[in-house]
Amino acid sequence: MLVTCEPAILYFGTPVLLISTINEDGSTNLAPMSSAFWLGWRCVLGLAATSKTTQNLLRSGECALNLASVDNVAAVDRLARTTGLHPVPANKLARGYRFEREKFRLAGLTPIASETVAPPRARECPVQLEAVTASHHGLAESDNELRGRTVIFEMRIQRVHLDDAILIEGEPNRIDPDKWRPLIMSFQKFYGLESRQRHHSMLGEIPEVLYRSADIDKARQARPFLGAGPGDAGRNHVLTLDAEPGRSSP
Ligand SMILES: Cc1cc2nc3c(=O)[nH]c(=O)nc-3n(C[C@H](O)[C@H](O)[C@H](O)COP(=O)(O)O)c2cc1C
Repeated sequence: MLVTCEPAILYFGTPVLLISTINEDGSTNLAPMSSAFWLGWRCVLGLAATSKTTQNLLRSGECALNLASVDNVAAVDRLARTTGLHPVPANKLARGYRFEREKFRLAGLTPIASETVAPPRARECPVQLEAVTASHHGLAESDNELRGRTVIFEMRIQRVHLDDAILIEGEPNRIDPDKWRPLIMSFQKFYGLESRQRHHSMLGEIPEVLYRSADIDKARQARPFLGAGPGDAGRNHVLTLDAEPGRSSP
């Protein structure tokens, strides 16, 4: 029997990301989010206007998108109901949010330098993407009541860093969906995916390479971020937790 309902939210299940951005003073913010989807080397993010992440993205136009696996769930949950905004906005106070400056420390995650953007990546997340803002606009712009509450960002991916444990053996550029175990947020609760395919996929017969876009060539031309460390020797180097993005510890 089908029934007509009015659920307050329609969060039917999307992967969880930890998005890192740089604050005005050079420190780092890190926030969980899950209103995200992917189109080639672009992704679309939906973020509340009353988030530090949104303010940082609007100002700096860059972030690191760390995709959480099921193994990162405790770290994600430690960041829930925190904000880098001070004072905490009234709508978040009412939901029990508190201000938190040291988000990497709180989550127990390790910041490592990105190559082309200032915001650091989270070492423990198996997928880390460096991204720049291509465009943004408000959600529900024509609605007097909802206008100004949510910002939609189109991000272009500029570097992809993957834990090689999630790759198809012998295929350096292909992720094995049998190995990649994304953390899913469904109606505010955490889930994983089943570890087996449910059915043969007709779409899966199309070679992935046919989806390759010019954004990958553009990404190759991205200049190294000046604070990213000393060339290849500094790749994946750990940053001090409260450091400005240019400062690092070996
Ligand atoms: C699993 C999870 C998913 C979330 N998804 C989103 C989201 O898609 N968009 C959003 O604006 N907030 C989302 N939030 C809430 C933000 O984390 C929250 O607004 C937080 O205060 C943002 O931190 P910031 O103010 O330091 O940027 C999510 C929180 C959790 C725990």
